[in-house]
Amino acid sequence: MATVNDNYLKLKAGYLFPEIARRVSVFAEANPTAPIIKLGIGDVTEPLPEACRTAMIQAVKDMGDRETFKGYGPEQGYLWLREKIAAQDFQARGCDIEAAEVFVSDGAKCDTGNILDIFGKDNKIAVTDPVYPVYVDTNVMAGHTGAASDSGEYEGLVYLPMTADNHFSPALPTTKVDLIYLCFPNNPTGATVTRTELKQWVDYAREQGAIIFFDAAYEAYITDPELPHSIYEIEGARDCAIEFRSFSKNAGFTGTRCAYTVVPKGLMAKASDGAEVELHKLWNRRQSTKFNGVSYIVQRGAEAVYSPAGQQQIQGLIDFYLENARIVREQLTQAGIDVYGGVNAPYVWVKTPEGLSSWDFFDKLLNTCYVVGTPGSGFGAAGEGYFRISAFNSRENVNEAMQRIVQTFKAQ
Ligand code: MLT
Repeated sequence: MATVNDNYLKLKAGYLFPEIARRVSVFAEANPTAPIIKLGIGDVTEPLPEACRTAMIQAVKDMGDRETFKGYGPEQGYLWLREKIAAQDFQARGCDIEAAEVFVSDGAKCDTGNILDIFGKDNKIAVTDPVYPVYVDTNVMAGHTGAASDSGEYEGLVYLPMTADNHFSPALPTTKVDLIYLCFPNNPTGATVTRTELKQWVDYAREQGAIIFFDAAYEAYITDPELPHSIYEIEGARDCAIEFRSFSKNAGFTGTRCAYTVVPKGLMAKASDGAEVELHKLWNRRQSTKFNGVSYIVQRGAEAVYSPAGQQQIQGLIDFYLENARIVREQLTQAGIDVYGGVNAPYVWVKTPEGLSSWDFFDKLLNTCYVVGTPGSGFGAAGEGYFRISAFNSRENVNEAMQRIVQTFKAQ
């Protein structure tokens, strides 16, 4: 009989979001008339920007004409898109990043998991706690961890707590680590990182020969002009960091799929014989072997994000979701609930009231308010006692959900 990858058997029962969906569908079956509002998974609700749709319609027309038809595209993405990304997302902010260092893909989730293909098995890995579950689960799948403890922590990973006690600013690891996952603006806490803090991470990584995986999928939500959007705004980051970006949360591409990863040339790691190897070459090799690129139509849609109309329209979307986040913060505060995040991020991180556990608060909100959120403990042990509310929904739903919560908790 064939054998399986045993590492999968170490994973906790279900990936967090499918597990929530399962519980919600059980509830909905038992209560078919309950008007459920979902503020759980961070999935966008508002339509694609007009500039992107128009560009995609034109791209479909291109595909219908022999002269402009496209077959396989470059695995790394079309140069016209990579050039715009390099110029507008990086060079315009003073970052020394060129088009050839940008790899267009179908998602930051895939890239943050796939990147492990080019790293060795014996790296010591640090994640924040709470953390986006993909970073942990993909390391479990790759065999980089031992078993999970009762609290859900995997043996072999270094967890860096990120709680109200340290103002959601994780301390540098006290043991030597080789790979560090950082996500700012943070999913799930909505916390941000300052330039000074990020510089400490870059300095640390360079001293230790570590690589930072910097997930900046939510950078478009930064409203504070002092905060860095990219790790490459920090001197020395080219020598120690890979950055992940996405069109999902700024341009509403969760269903359309487009993202990119920056691997600077000259960023090195060691082979087992001690030789230094350029990660850019390995990632290029990995992508050209296992990936055939994002569709031409979608890349044209992503390119339109960089047009003046596209920029204006995505700002409209970001402002819309940030206003939702403001409403969530304000209403919950009025109900006497402590909240964090939601100012430079589309997530509001809620301290569960009445000493409820994360899952108990989940059940209470679902049963009494018909509102779905995400239990903080699903993001890690240090998320226990917290709860994430996503600002991705219609204004009407956000207002209605908050009204129900305020009524329930103010009345107590
Ligand atoms: C989330 O809810 O954390 C996001 O949907 C995750 C993702 O973008 O994959």
